[in-house]
Amino acid sequence: MAVKLINLQEQERRYLARELHDELGQCLAAINAVAASIAHTADQQCPALVEEADHISRISQHMMDSVRDLLGRLRPAELDELGLSVCLNSLVESWNVRSGGKTHYQLSITGDCTALPERLAVTLFRIVQECLTNISKHSAAANANVALAINENAITLTVTDDGIASQVPPIGASGIGLLGIRERVIELHGRLTLTIAQPHGFIIDVELPILAVAKAQA
Ligand SMILES: Nc1ncnc2c1ncn2[C@@H]1O[C@H](COP(=O)(O)OP(=O)(O)OP(=O)(O)O)[C@@H](O)[C@H]1O
Ligand SMILES: [Mg+2]
Repeated sequence: MAVKLINLQEQERRYLARELHDELGQCLAAINAVAASIAHTADQQCPALVEEADHISRISQHMMDSVRDLLGRLRPAELDELGLSVCLNSLVESWNVRSGGKTHYQLSITGDCTALPERLAVTLFRIVQECLTNISKHSAAANANVALAINENAITLTVTDDGIASQVPPIGASGIGLLGIRERVIELHGRLTLTIAQPHGFIIDVELPILAVAKAQA
């Protein structure tokens, strides 16, 4: 039942991603084009307006970037076509770019993730996505590490950082990110362990039994 709910949520996200892309994306592109055309005309007839038209362009460009970012979160584009490994790599890379060297994000994958059912791949991707967002928001870490291991009997995912965390946060107390991770893990009959690293930092351990893979496939 809960797995069904999560699948419904993914369907809804896909729908939203499509709508955002098709509706908002087109409108913003149109605004941008009109602003460029105003700037062009104003250049000849009313130079004072050029700066204002350019301003509209910059705002719509910024909104387009936000929409693109949101689309990436709603529906990781490569997950369907290129698989989990490529998708995680580009997620980690995008955080490295965004952090500008403040936090160094690393990814290691052992085992074959091409055989994972899509639903499970989406779950793992969503968990890593939330962990990395949390690291950038809360940890002030210099290093963050994502390790995914696919073995015969289980999948383990460990996300660690060397940031400021000195005690395990109470799940659900401030936000819903960790809560969502826990729900996803429980629904796949897995185990979630939160611990504190030495001397400080946060460690999230997820273990999903292969049974979960079979269930997710059903
Ligand atoms: N890597 C981390 N380092 C330090 N503190 C963390 C880390 N991850 C989570 N936390 C703490 O745990 C709390 C709960 O995290 P959670 O993801 O559930 O909520 P949030 O990130 O605050 O909000 P939301 O995820 O709903 O946007 C955070 O508010 C933060 O205090
Ligand atoms: Mg969070």
